[in-house]
Amino acid sequence: MNQKKSTNHLRKNVWKVFDQISPSYDLLNHILSFGTDFYWRKQLIKHLPKKQKIYLLDLATGTADQLIAIVKHAKQVKSALGIDLSEKMLRIGQKKIIDKPYAHQMTLLKGDATHIAMENASIDCITISFGIRNVLDTNKCLEECMRVLKDNGRLLILEFSIPKNRLIKLSYLFYLRHILPNIGGMISKDKKAYQYLNQTIETFPHGKAFCTFLKKQGFVHVKAYPMTFGIVTLYIGEKVRCQNLF
Ligand SMILES: C[S@@+](CC[C@H](N)C(=O)[O-])C[C@H]1O[C@@H](n2cnc3c(N)ncnc32)[C@H](O)[C@@H]1O
Repeated sequence: MNQKKSTNHLRKNVWKVFDQISPSYDLLNHILSFGTDFYWRKQLIKHLPKKQKIYLLDLATGTADQLIAIVKHAKQVKSALGIDLSEKMLRIGQKKIIDKPYAHQMTLLKGDATHIAMENASIDCITISFGIRNVLDTNKCLEECMRVLKDNGRLLILEFSIPKNRLIKLSYLFYLRHILPNIGGMISKDKKAYQYLNQTIETFPHGKAFCTFLKKQGFVHVKAYPMTFGIVTLYIGEKVRCQNLF
């Protein structure tokens, strides 16, 4: 993907940034999104495959909020694995699931979304929430998704995007550039991390551009569902069923 070089150096070892902000990550997510993050995550759940006994992989799972919401609300998920490079984010996720009735359905492991330690065609659904723009090599990550997904498997990506409406876009960019880093900095004591957040949001392809990218990577039935004025978009793509030519 043609990501702007200016922010690629920020994505290098980005897990270290998340290690650092992990203690306040969940709280800040809720504050900075005015609680809308719960709604966005639920919308993704509505688009999970409906078939029974799904094996699900959540890439860049962080503190596992998306994975927990999935396992709690999607009864068709038999087993779910979340991987992330940041051990501290994972540790917080682990604390949240301990003693929960759904804990046996979930596993959290340190792992790289660009080198997924799984067999080919072993997963029914992959989810990536607010993670894809943080992955340094997006192409490699999507290649890996394609490899581990079963035929007809589904990829669901939730990611920030930029609103189309000019007035909303201007207000949103003002919020991203001036308000978000200050609130984020005050609570997490790491203003730079939240400046990084807005830079990656502004430079990552969204809408049609990201759909085109998914199609180029071989995904089919690609759709984009913008939410909350286009601040966040849910992307869906599927791995085509392999045709037996012989
Ligand atoms: C904004 S957080 C999203 C966390 C979670 N998915 C959520 O919905 O809150 C981005 C996460 O991506 C992880 N990450 C970045 N590059 C990664 C990679 N190559 N493999 C796995 N995780 C990665 C970071 O460590 C961080 O936890």
